[in-house]
Amino acid sequence: MTANRIPLAGVIGSPIAHSKSPQLHGYWLRKYGLPGYYIPMEIAADKLESALKTLPELGFVGVNVTIPYKEKVLEIADLITDRAAVIGAANTLIFRSDGKIHADNTDGYGFIANLRQKAPTWEPKAGPAVVLGAGGAARAIVASLIEAGCPEIWITNRTRARADKLREDFGKRLSVIEWVQAGNVMEDAATVVNTTSLGMVGKPELRVPLDGLRPTTLVTDIVYTPLETKLLKTAREIGCPTVDGLGMLLHQAVPGFERWFNKRPEVDDALRAAVLR
Ligand code: ATR
Repeated sequence: MTANRIPLAGVIGSPIAHSKSPQLHGYWLRKYGLPGYYIPMEIAADKLESALKTLPELGFVGVNVTIPYKEKVLEIADLITDRAAVIGAANTLIFRSDGKIHADNTDGYGFIANLRQKAPTWEPKAGPAVVLGAGGAARAIVASLIEAGCPEIWITNRTRARADKLREDFGKRLSVIEWVQAGNVMEDAATVVNTTSLGMVGKPELRVPLDGLRPTTLVTDIVYTPLETKLLKTAREIGCPTVDGLGMLLHQAVPGFERWFNKRPEVDDALRAAVLR
């Protein structure tokens, strides 16, 4: 990038209109009075590679990546962080000054950072975690739980084969539980996380029996529309601490913003409000 150019960043995907990333990065740019712009870009699949080669020449310092390109960008990147490699997807690209594209995945980081902020006494090492779902979000969350020292992870998914694949990829600390039997392991869980889209506006409800939950178990959801899902409501009625999914979205954006704009941004209630607006 030419010296003194205003840094540009953005998010690429298709569709892109739903993305909250422009609101969130735009809020930080204004809050810190930094020069820079963050732009949503809808990119067709057959233009992905050429777009990623051209964006740095136009002054872009990096982009976030969303559906459906999170896996595909790994084929184009020159360097891939270990966590992006193990997850098999990237959500953050850094266009380095030497022309190389560096791919990272900050979803798992965002998951853990959100729990540490909202539930400071939560300890991933304290006991087993139940992970509902085995899609892309589950892969990032499982990787981050393992890295944080979670001793055991019980994974359950409607499509058993995807859960088995996670076990294959992430190893012995994972066990697969049948989807219909998820209720049986709740009482031994220290952490429960819904990584499926169930409970989101317009989707069916998540129907997992929670009666066995202990009131000390931390329950969290990656769904944030609505903020209070049925899972979180039921858990709270049992007395469990709960953390909603919005914070994961906010925290996953921190490492990218810091790399692109040289400022570590803060995640606080004002940011939550700005993104919900
Ligand atoms: P993401 O990358 O956001 O995780 P994904 O890879 O499509 O998205 O995964 C979505 C998750 O929600 C999966 O675990 C999926 O289960 P399947 O692997 O069986 O598809 C889960 N999911 C979505 N709709 C579901 C439903 N109606 N019932 C049960 N699980 C569902």
